[in-house]
Amino acid sequence: MAKTDFNDRMLSLGLARVSEAAALASAGWIGRGDEKAADQAAVNGMREQLNKLDIRGTVVIGEGERDEAPMLYIGEEVGTGTGPEVDIALDPLEGTTLTAKDMPNALCVIAMAPRGSLLHAPDVYMDKLAIGPGYRDGVVTMDMKPAERVNALASAKGCSTHDITVCVLERPRHEKLIAELRTTDCAIRLITDGDVAGVIHCAEAEKTGIDMYMGSGGAPEGVLAAAALKCMGGQMFGRLTFRNDDERGRAEKAGITNLDRVYTRDDMVTSDVIFAATGVTDGSILSGIKREVGHLTADTILMRSKTGSVRRMSYRNPT
Ligand code: FBP
Repeated sequence: MAKTDFNDRMLSLGLARVSEAAALASAGWIGRGDEKAADQAAVNGMREQLNKLDIRGTVVIGEGERDEAPMLYIGEEVGTGTGPEVDIALDPLEGTTLTAKDMPNALCVIAMAPRGSLLHAPDVYMDKLAIGPGYRDGVVTMDMKPAERVNALASAKGCSTHDITVCVLERPRHEKLIAELRTTDCAIRLITDGDVAGVIHCAEAEKTGIDMYMGSGGAPEGVLAAAALKCMGGQMFGRLTFRNDDERGRAEKAGITNLDRVYTRDDMVTSDVIFAATGVTDGSILSGIKREVGHLTADTILMRSKTGSVRRMSYRNPT
């Protein structure tokens, strides 16, 4: 079997079932003000379906370390125990607050790749930069200042900076970044949470209106976003950032020796990958769970990097 052939064609449908199950399970918690209950429901739904897949899977990006997460913790073995050895990155509910408040773009996300091909990102922040497909390699880089990136992208796109939109998480730590971006006359789409969706937006710029993603968010979410962009096309870079020695220790424990390294999309995901996301709340990429009398409907995007295939599926589930 070729290194990257992990039966991804057949497994991908199963992966869509996993993200669907998580989203359907969390549906009852949309807009109920309870982040924890929504997350727990998604974890339960995701784990149950994941364990039905014929894989020898290990969670490498999960709910946390074993002592802090009872389920889907890092290192947990999942699947039936027969089939290919795979690494799994997951976020059963990406946007717990978005779900609790019924705000846009909460997703259930999962990526799967052959064993050893996903970065074991520690639970620290990652400074991220992403753009969609169609640009030459390195048109924007981590070394450039935010304003330089906007100028470079505008000239590559053949438009003025006024016509560029950058997505940024609205956080006090991003005040300087936002102020610098304002000097370029670009537009900024501020999001309150959910930077996996933030990055994915760049891959469908005509639909979402977002050209570039910038700023720091969770490193585990960075690997999930890299997996999505590897399927959809687009460039992504990430650099881990550390606030203290404890965080540096987490990176060292994860086997990371060069703490200043800039990871490209393909450094974070070194082999073919499959990726599925299901919408929980309505968003620009996916519709949220719809409830009607007698059934729920879930909207899923399912992608394979090997073929670049992007499938969109609507699933109606009787209640
Ligand atoms: P949760 O789903 O755990 O609430 O995380 C959402 C999120 O917004 C991520 O998308 C993002 O990477 C991270 O939190 C940002 O962290 P912080 O809220 O500490 O800025």
